[in-house]
Amino acid sequence: MLITHTIDELRQALAPYRRPAFVPTMGNLHEGHISLVRQAKPMGDVTVASIFVNRLQFLPHEDFDSYPRTWEADCAALQSAGCDVLFAPREADLYPLPQTFKVHPDPALADLLEGHFRPGFFTGVATVVMKLFACVLGQTGGVAVFGKKDYQQLMVIRQMVQQFALPITIVAGDTARAPDGLALSSRNGYLSLQERQEAVALSQALRHLSERWLQALQQSDLTAPPHALEAQAMDVLRARGWQPDYLTVRRRTDLQPATAHDGAGTLVALGAARLGSTRLIDNLEF
Ligand code: PAF
Repeated sequence: MLITHTIDELRQALAPYRRPAFVPTMGNLHEGHISLVRQAKPMGDVTVASIFVNRLQFLPHEDFDSYPRTWEADCAALQSAGCDVLFAPREADLYPLPQTFKVHPDPALADLLEGHFRPGFFTGVATVVMKLFACVLGQTGGVAVFGKKDYQQLMVIRQMVQQFALPITIVAGDTARAPDGLALSSRNGYLSLQERQEAVALSQALRHLSERWLQALQQSDLTAPPHALEAQAMDVLRARGWQPDYLTVRRRTDLQPATAHDGAGTLVALGAARLGSTRLIDNLEF
């Protein structure tokens, strides 16, 4: 695996190739990231991953400084997954000047859910992803793989690619889960042993919410969507010591609140909640 730090080094390394398959990451790689690299591999003629902890997508009180940086282990994991080129820019390589030009995603999508609780987050994500796309896929176009774990992020990136007519195919990777069902995340490493045991309750709450939602939809006299179930799901988590930001059922197409007409196969339950000082997110299509 060739490791590049500057945009020039990266472009030289990619010059012989016509269709890179790209997996952007912030490092601290786990099986979820590695499965995206494996998924990307047959889709292009060179497999590229990036590691860059993007300051622009962290709020001032968030964990930019303490975000886990595990360089040696990440390189070994990428190498064994068959990654050909790693792009690991330093901050001065990617942002040599203050990044005053930014990509502002459509507020109708980006101000909901994660964007509501982390204002500016999707501007930071879209800006860095646009820049990474310019570096990695700018000469050729290609494929980029994003995990469904960050469901709203995936939708924002898809819209960005569509609206700017970027010659990039966005591919979604399934969420990798621990045996107990917890979605893999770099932030799981912040959990204490006790919190780690409790953490599966978020995915269980989303499953329970989706099951009860479908049961309610099957009642023939239903005139309004059963949104009270969302509040009940948040209360269950609160009673177990969590601080939920949201547990909600949305339409997959635009993440707007589901109506009584949106049936099985078109919905997604999304949740974000804090356990101790760790904020976890998860989702379930149903
Ligand atoms: O999902 C992530 O790890 C990040 O948001 C991304 C897409 C690498 C942009 O920094």
